[in-house]
Amino acid sequence: SVNQSTFGELPVLVIKHKTCSAAVSLQGAHLLFWQPSTETTPVIWLSQKANFKKEVAIRGGVPVCWPWFGKLGDPMHGFARLVEWQLDSCKEDNNGVDLTLSLTNNQQTERFFTKPFHVWLTIHVGQTCEVTLSCQGDFEATSALHTYLGINNIHDVIVKGLGDSYQERLPVENKPAIQGQLTVNQEVDRIYTNVDDVITIADGKRIIKLTNVNASDVVTWNPWIDKAKAMADFADEEYQSMVCVESCRINKPLKLTATQKSAYGFKIEVI
Ligand code: BG6
Repeated sequence: SVNQSTFGELPVLVIKHKTCSAAVSLQGAHLLFWQPSTETTPVIWLSQKANFKKEVAIRGGVPVCWPWFGKLGDPMHGFARLVEWQLDSCKEDNNGVDLTLSLTNNQQTERFFTKPFHVWLTIHVGQTCEVTLSCQGDFEATSALHTYLGINNIHDVIVKGLGDSYQERLPVENKPAIQGQLTVNQEVDRIYTNVDDVITIADGKRIIKLTNVNASDVVTWNPWIDKAKAMADFADEEYQSMVCVESCRINKPLKLTATQKSAYGFKIEVI
């Protein structure tokens, strides 16, 4: 079933299916969490302290960063995650639930961005989770599907398939112990620029497989102890139970045209 609900100030679709449970906020076309029925904890993770307020970013889930990543523009990570999208379709069958949400220029977006655009996000949740962003316009867009993964213990995490070239986003480099593998023992914030299509995230309890479709980069992020404490919408201990592995278009921006859709996305499953 798909039921309309509200979390704080925000309209949310709550999904209960034999294959999974999940929820999607119309603000940001934001998948808030996803837990396959075979799992005892969410695979896509939401902070206990997340804000559900109008025009405030939600901590966790899959924030849609568009039409720019990070501080390439203002607001940080683009405006798409701050405004309400429209629900175009919602279908349910034996395999799960499929949603399409869209956003185009309106009064709310006009304050952030004046170029004409159309952006669509399709979400499939079932035994797997698949998210695709497509867009049209007459400009170049950078973007991230900023997925927060739920993990058993950050100290046991090994991420593979990232390749060995990356742009460090922190002032002090944290060199990985093994090239091409990510383990986390301090704050991590990197843009990997030559990634495999398949990335695995093992945490000692389960292996999450992330398959990229048309993504050019993957960002990995964990705030670690001090930054976790500094974030009001993130509990102090939560850095131990999440890691962001984000399918992105940063170094190869989406080259939008007015007539053809540019698209990228990912699929996540537990293997
Ligand atoms: C990551 C960035 O993608 O997102 C980090 O690489 C940033 O630098 C993180 O801190 C969270 O961003 P925000 O705006 O959601 O707090």
